[in-house]
Amino acid sequence: MSLAARVVVIIGGGSGIGFEVARRAADAGAQVFLGGRTASTLEAAAAKIGAQWHVVDNTDSDSLAEFFGAVPRVDHLFTPGASYRTGPMRELSDEDAASPFVTKFWGQYHAVKHAAPKLSRDGSVVLMSGAASVRPPGPAPAYVACNAAIEGLGRGLAVELAPVRVNVVAPGTIDGNLWSQRRADVREASFAQYRSDTVLHRVGTESEVADAVLYLFGATFTTGSTLYPDGGYSFR
Ligand SMILES: NC(=O)c1ccc[n+]([C@@H]2O[C@H](COP(=O)([O-])OP(=O)(O)OC[C@H]3O[C@@H](n4cnc5c(N)ncnc54)[C@H](OP(=O)(O)O)[C@@H]3O)[C@@H](O)[C@H]2O)c1
Repeated sequence: MSLAARVVVIIGGGSGIGFEVARRAADAGAQVFLGGRTASTLEAAAAKIGAQWHVVDNTDSDSLAEFFGAVPRVDHLFTPGASYRTGPMRELSDEDAASPFVTKFWGQYHAVKHAAPKLSRDGSVVLMSGAASVRPPGPAPAYVACNAAIEGLGRGLAVELAPVRVNVVAPGTIDGNLWSQRRADVREASFAQYRSDTVLHRVGTESEVADAVLYLFGATFTTGSTLYPDGGYSFR
């Protein structure tokens, strides 16, 4: 798919899945803008792919306004940036339980709200969810509910923002930057459980999630959909 002369904006584009989408979009000819909270991460990521970058915290409305003020227009927006805690209701503080909603749900909602005046009529938004939305991997009810809410948000925004298309990507467990920062024994136990729970008996890659996001950027008759690059985890 060519993205020549298209502007692709990625909040959370400095690492992980967001960076992989950024790299692929730049390869396809897009002008790429990266956002995230850490200037050094963004600067290094942007230098690798010839992107522009600006610091942004999606939990701060002023920060989002400044970020989108620096962007000429938005043809495709992807918003995986989030930082939160998950766990059982009976163990998490109320603040930690709310954290996925603060940064992953409202963070994406407000990012789209600030981007809306600059979205091209033939453009698209891809929101980030997670396959936990439909199949909880363990006790983490607020996180599960947050992802389910994001999929509902995608359908609601698809109606409001049409003809701009809005879709959601809901990956399964991905061997990449996020899991590499977790303790090796925790990671290996989670990966082993996931392998036995999926149809394809393996975890995924950031590149395989990027395939889904790039597809949704170009899928001109697809809106309000959620795509699950999860190796069959969600329906098994
Ligand atoms: N990896 C998986 O297995 C998996 C599976 C399902 C869903 N997901 C979802 O995918 C998303 C991204 O995960 P990833 O695997 O790509 O991990 P990642 O490498 O940690 O990416 C998250 C990015 O978001 C940025 N970020 C965090 N909080 C932010 C905020 N408040 N405002 C703006 N940017 C923020 C981070 O940079 P700074 O810290 O510098 O801001 C980082 O670049 C998450 O929402 C996660 O729930 C991941």
